[in-house]
This record gives sequence, structure tokens and C-alpha cells, in this order.
Amino acid sequence: MQGREQWATKLGFILAAVGSAVGLGNIWRFSYVLGEGGGFAFLIAYIICIFLIGLPVLLAEITVGRKGQSDAIGSFEKIAPGKWWKIGGVLGVLSGSLILSFYGVIAGWVFYYVFSYLSGSAGGVAEGGYGDYFGGFIGGTVGPVFWQVLFMAIVVGVVYFGVKKGIELANRMFMPLLALLVVILAIYGLTMDGAGEAMNFMFSPDFGQLGNMEVWGMAIGQAFFTLSLGMGAMITYASYLPKETKLPSAAGTVVTLDTLFAIFAGLMIFPIVFTFGLDPAAGPELIFITLPEAFGQWGTGGTIFGIFFFFLVGIAALSSAISLLEVGVSWAMRRLDWSRKKAALTAGAIITAFGIPSALSQGGPLSQPIFGYSFLDLIDTITDQYTLALGGMITALFVGWGWNKIEVLRETGLQDTTIGAIWIWFLRIVAPVGIFYIVANNFYNMFIASEESMSYLIIQMINYFL
Ligand code: PHE
Repeated sequence: MQGREQWATKLGFILAAVGSAVGLGNIWRFSYVLGEGGGFAFLIAYIICIFLIGLPVLLAEITVGRKGQSDAIGSFEKIAPGKWWKIGGVLGVLSGSLILSFYGVIAGWVFYYVFSYLSGSAGGVAEGGYGDYFGGFIGGTVGPVFWQVLFMAIVVGVVYFGVKKGIELANRMFMPLLALLVVILAIYGLTMDGAGEAMNFMFSPDFGQLGNMEVWGMAIGQAFFTLSLGMGAMITYASYLPKETKLPSAAGTVVTLDTLFAIFAGLMIFPIVFTFGLDPAAGPELIFITLPEAFGQWGTGGTIFGIFFFFLVGIAALSSAISLLEVGVSWAMRRLDWSRKKAALTAGAIITAFGIPSALSQGGPLSQPIFGYSFLDLIDTITDQYTLALGGMITALFVGWGWNKIEVLRETGLQDTTIGAIWIWFLRIVAPVGIFYIVANNFYNMFIASEESMSYLIIQMINYFL
């Protein structure tokens, strides 16, 4: 076997991990869950989840990957041969690939918007017309698939060239560009009339909503998604790290930069929403319909902002998608003994093909709901609300209970430290209990409390197969 690939520098790893973390989650998803969760209360719940659950689990994943020096499944196998813990890795590879299948679809929409702002077609839509404009595009047949495939081809292209020459190099270019763009756009946002209201919405204390479990459910789901946890991505990236790297500082840097990026994204988006009197709780369509409405009313300035805005979102999505593909590629290279090129092309093709039903499910020919969900929403819900969290929980339990504590702490460089002791207990109790509570809550809301209760779903299921 030839030597395993490695990052050229520690900075390369950090940039790639930040690239994985910063994505659609920080802009598209963060802004709409923040809007739906009522602003400040959500932000507090989110920051608590990030530091109490996200950071400990991130450090656990990085530790597993670096120690295992293998893909998401192989790393568990190496550290605990013959044990069931590798299910954490299996869930990771599955969820990573499933998420990429629809992530590529949404990223395709983003790239379509860049193109349409550049070509002038998006800027020329009449007031109030963006709902139809967006609906018309995603409900088409050729358009959504074309942009999805194009996006996925770029992702495959980067992964094809390997850890150093593909992934590391791409992130070295993308990350500074992203930071620059988000800061400029946020500063611009802060000069707009609605900036005060936006600041109020995001930062003025209102603790009422903190009693609302749904806000916590959204917060922890967001924390997992935005930190790329539970999907094998961080395990895989960390497995290309040499032994010397200090893991806690790397994890801290990734969490801090990811959180800052989300806050800046909020500062760029909400001033626009409030300046133009739009609804911050518009949901997933916030960046695709609500914001373009604002760009439209704002004229040429809006078109220019729109170009840079969607370009920023597109690049952020690209660096995340790269890490998602690498999860499956890394697995196939070891397990099936494929070359990187073959693994990248094959895994990329399978995941893209599996994403096509998602691309066609938003008003297109495959819109027939399955158990009440569109295909895209179904895959999104299964991964987001369940497999992700379970994968993360298994990793936390493994590092907390399943693996020798002294060895774990030696591996992270936290032996004989208070932080190390606290971290282990967070992994043993706080993270699993928190995750379990939220998953149970999601389950309850979905199957028992909602109108679409279990019995309703069963009837639908039967109807579906008849
Ligand atoms: N963290 C990415 C985002 O915020 C999504 C992602 C999840 C990427 C899992 C890789 C792995 O968009």
C-alpha cells in the first residue's frame, strides 16, 4: 500500500474543515431558522448548543479520524476492532452521501441565480414576481437537473485531484474569498435603513422563546449541520492529519470561524429583509424569493449585490460539498481498493443520480409526495433530524465510554487537564442526553403530536404502495 495522503500544512486542514463547516447551512439554513426561531432567542439557544454539544462532538470526531488514519468507518474499526461502534461510521458515510445528493440540488439553484443575475434575467423580474420566477425554475425538468449536474461535476473535479492538489488548494483559494465577501456585504448591510431593526432582531434580549422546545430542536439540528457533524466529514478530513497537530485548538478555530461566519451572514441578510419590509420568517425560500424581491426593488445596486451574494453562497456550498463527497470516496478507496480517480467519478455519479429525483421533486415531474414529503424534503428530514444526530451521538459515546480515557486524552493532548476531564464528561453525558432529547422530540412531533400522526402516516404508506 502506498502512503496515505496528508494535508500539506496544518493551515490546509483548518481551511478545509472551515470550508466544510461554512456552507449553505450558514447562509441559507441559518438565516431561515434564525428568522423562524424569532431571532435572538434562537441565536442564544444555537450558541449554547454549539459550545456545549457541537464543539465537544467536533473534537471527538477529529480525534477519531486522526487516531484511526482511515475513512469514517475504517477509523472506528482500527481503534476498536470487531466492535459495534463502527455503526457510527456507517451512519456517517450513508448520511454524508444522502445529504450530498440534495445539497447538490440546492447548490445548483444557487449557481443558476448567479448566472441569471449576471445575464440580467433575474434582475428584470417584476415586483412580487420572484415566487413564480423561483417556482418556475425549480419546477422545471431540464433546468434544475442541469445546474445540479454542473455543480456536482465541479465537486468531483476537485476531489479527483486529491487531498493536497484538489481539496486543500481549492479551500486555500475559496476561504479568503468567502471571508472577504461576507465582511464587505455585511458592512454594506449595516449601512442600510433596516440595519437597526436587524440588530434588534438578532441581538436584543428576548428570552421568552427559550422555553420553546422547538427552538432548541432547531438549534441543535443547526449546530450539527453547520459543523458538518455526524456525517463522517470531519473524521475523514482529520484522518489526513499528521500526528503532531494540536487538535483542541483546531476544533476551537473551526467552531469560532463557523459561528462568526453565520453571524456575519445574518448581518448581511436581515438589514435587507427589514429595509424592504419583508418577512424574516419566510422559511427556506428566504434567500431564493424574499431577498431577490429586495434586490429587485433596489435596482442596479441590488443586481450587483445579488451577483456577489449568490456567488458567495455558491462557493461556500462548493467547499462543503467537496467534504461530503470525500467521505464516500475515502471509504471506497480503502474498502473497494479503488484508485482516487475511479472512486471520485463513481461515487460522484451515483450520488448525482440519486439526487435527480430530489431535483425533480419541487414541482417537476417527480413531485408526487411520499409519506407527505417531497423527495428532497424526505431525504433532508431523515438525515437532518435523525441519522446525523445518531451518528454524532455514537461518536460521542464511543469517545466518552468505549475508548480508553487515558488514550483519548493523550491523543488530543489534553491529558491531566481540567478541560480534558470536562470534555470527557460532556461526551459521556451532556451531548448524548441533549442529542437523545432532541431526536425523541423530533420523533414525537413527527409521528405522534402532529396532524400527520403515525396512524395517518401508515394509511398514507399503504396508499402509496397500492
Ligand atoms: N456544514 C455544511 C453547511 O453548513 C454542510 C455540511 C454538512 C457539509 C456535513 C459537510 C458535511 O452547509
